[in-house]
Amino acid sequence: MSNRGVFISLEGIEGCGKSTQAKILSDYMSELGYCVVQTREPGGTPVAEKIREVLLDPKNQDLTSRTELLLYLASRSQHVEQLIMPALKKGKIVICERFSDSTRAYQGYARGLDMDMIETLIRIATGNLEPDLTIILDMEVKEGLLRAERFKNYKDRLESENLDFHNKVRRGYLEIAKNNPNRIKVISAKGSIDDIHLRIRQYIDELLSNYKDKPN
Ligand code: TMP
Repeated sequence: MSNRGVFISLEGIEGCGKSTQAKILSDYMSELGYCVVQTREPGGTPVAEKIREVLLDPKNQDLTSRTELLLYLASRSQHVEQLIMPALKKGKIVICERFSDSTRAYQGYARGLDMDMIETLIRIATGNLEPDLTIILDMEVKEGLLRAERFKNYKDRLESENLDFHNKVRRGYLEIAKNNPNRIKVISAKGSIDDIHLRIRQYIDELLSNYKDKPN
């Protein structure tokens, strides 16, 4: 790791607590003196947020799997070029809720689209950018969906998928993690918010110890 910033992604099934943990992690790293950019996928820039609306709108039931894939990647392409890469080039820490592992888990393992095609398109959309560290917040699907429901009074297009779909997403994540043990760490998303934060912090502190200078 050289003079580039640090790219961290948080992943997991619906309701696993990514947003809460991303915020706490951003605050923690900011307090340590790092310049932190917190962002999310799909979204993170005005155009990408518009694509997000199309993707999550429950009215768009006729979206085909391939179109869905291309829209997620269109959103990522815009996000990487406009926000993530410029921040990393300035030596900032980027904390992103979801990135390419979501595409692998949802469009690959759950929708069943061809993985080679997905990997090719991911490379095009990201210019080969992968996170330095990915944390998967793992929990029971039923519990996650209940949690997601408690936080909002409607289900978006993806949340409306059946239990089988979400179980495939979870199994997909665990498989992806098994194949990328250096980059991806799976932690239990059960317990208190503070407990989960401390579990994440253990990996963050390890990652930061490789940086001699604070990036900002
Ligand atoms: P969320 O970020 O609020 O969880 O909503 C994003 C939804 O989009 C979530 O259901 C996961 C899904 N998704 C994909 O299916 N593929 C992707 O590449 C990304 C980034 C998200």
